[in-house]
Amino acid sequence: MYVCVCKGVTDHQIRQHVSDGARSWREVREATGCATQCGKCACFAKSITRDAVQEA
Ligand code: FES
Repeated sequence: MYVCVCKGVTDHQIRQHVSDGARSWREVREATGCATQCGKCACFAKSITRDAVQEA
């Protein structure tokens, strides 16, 4: 599912970055570009990142 329409980032990509070693929303954002355009996806993308980091 697309989380960030502007940058074409999916929830799967976010989880993948966390399993590849990203440990913060900032790292995920820098790696994917998620939430760097309109910003509407930021809350949802952050919560996906937080859940993925807790599970990691
Ligand atoms: Fe993510 Fe616009 S939907 S920056």
